[in-house]
Amino acid sequence: MKIDIISVVPALLDSPFAHSIMKRAMDKGLLEVNCLNLRDYTTYARAQVDDYAFGGGAGMVMMIEPLVNAIESLQQNTRYDEIIFLTPDGDTFNQQMANKLSMQKNLLLVCGHYKGIDQRFRDHFITKEISIGDYVLSGGELAAAVIVDAVGRLLPGVLNDETSALTDSFQDNLLAPPVYTRPVEFRTWKVPDILLSGNHAKIEQWRHEQAVERTTQRRPDILDKD
Ligand code: ADE
Repeated sequence: MKIDIISVVPALLDSPFAHSIMKRAMDKGLLEVNCLNLRDYTTYARAQVDDYAFGGGAGMVMMIEPLVNAIESLQQNTRYDEIIFLTPDGDTFNQQMANKLSMQKNLLLVCGHYKGIDQRFRDHFITKEISIGDYVLSGGELAAAVIVDAVGRLLPGVLNDETSALTDSFQDNLLAPPVYTRPVEFRTWKVPDILLSGNHAKIEQWRHEQAVERTTQRRPDILDKD
């Protein structure tokens, strides 16, 4: 899968994909992420990409022209399945959306900054608008990093069997059950006996019960979602 990201601060994305599972996905050639600087596509003086809002009001607005230049230039080489704008007023990101996006081939993520982007760009170029939660970030870059990570780890071959995404929280509308590792006892706190029993059927049953209990207590809203 290829994910291109347009940003005015691409350096913010230097680190998130350079380590751990995302790095492995890239090294294996399963994921390609390209971070592009919007300022490279503006024809305005001093690499300007934003301007005052018509009608007044605080905050600058990202101009349509540099964004369209960037997209149309990228589209010469790539047919995007989705062009996604990261914005707090988008659809709230969840595991189901990550699953769906992971089946696409080429994604383009557009990071906003300032007070937003010219609505005409959203109307005519954006195919999906995503928020990562009900709070406002300084820009879309961290949201883009969240989406790339959540989607990238789902690509076939990125995770091995032990870390399989199938047992993640939110797959099956359940939170993950509690997990334990060595030592068996620490300051009188013991690992549940069942996990040491070697009875895999019983362990699976226990894990399922724990997952249901945890979800009922913490996130009853996701239990019966389809
Ligand atoms: N840009 C600013 N805040 C955001 C959010 N919550 N989600 C996605 N993009 C954003």
